[in-house]
Amino acid sequence: MNNAPIGIYDSGLGGLTVWREVRKLLPEESLLYLGDGKNCPYGSRPRTEVQALADAAVGRLVAEGCKLVVVACNTATAAAIDFLRAKYDTLPIVGMEPAVKPACLHTRSGVVGVLATERSLDGDLFHRTAARYGRDVTVIAEPGRGFVELVENDLEATPEAERTVAAAMEGMLARGADQIVLGCTHYPFLMDAIRRATAGRDVTVIDPSPAVARRTAELLDRGNLRAEPGHRPEYRFLTFSDDAYRDRLRRKAFSCDVA
Ligand code: DGL
Repeated sequence: MNNAPIGIYDSGLGGLTVWREVRKLLPEESLLYLGDGKNCPYGSRPRTEVQALADAAVGRLVAEGCKLVVVACNTATAAAIDFLRAKYDTLPIVGMEPAVKPACLHTRSGVVGVLATERSLDGDLFHRTAARYGRDVTVIAEPGRGFVELVENDLEATPEAERTVAAAMEGMLARGADQIVLGCTHYPFLMDAIRRATAGRDVTVIDPSPAVARRTAELLDRGNLRAEPGHRPEYRFLTFSDDAYRDRLRRKAFSCDVA
């Protein structure tokens, strides 16, 4: 038993879509969320730079006493997960998996669309996963250009969001994609615009964050790391940006929470 917090890290607000799933599944666990904020977006930065940023973030969460860290950022996972696991070798670390496998298993049209950042899409993790599960399936990858900026600027419910999302999805929908994988943790915040872009089509949108929460629970059990029954959780927020950004993290966390 261990009442120390679970650390959850992202470049900014996006990882809160994972935070809410972890909170829902593990309501007795304290959560310490680190949203970098200062260096967001990560999506088109060089891999080595993202690795250094992820190292600083995980180092901070370790220094704060986290018992497990969730890298709730596909871009940081793609750039740095092997490095992080080697460096922090006693720390259980959960990364983001592009949900290409369930999409390929469930497609009826044989066409799967993946939306993610440029850096995630050119990483080994995506290529390996797409090659492994997408053998008889057409996998269409499209960077969600501008998506992260929309979320970071609270512009999800605007005509600009509708246009940006519809433009990114047009090609994959025209080619018959019936499974759309959200490969960036910011993108579920754009779910309303995504649903409008797919309206009238039989399309499933896959957000991998519930699966990431389940993986977190598995690793807690494996390490006998669950909080004591009845433990009253604390929810804290950290950032490399300023106090105003930290307050935004907290507000967004509780306003997007569906527990
Ligand atoms: N939310 C992140 C991801 O899952 C990073 C987005 C960004 O900073 O570009 O990829």
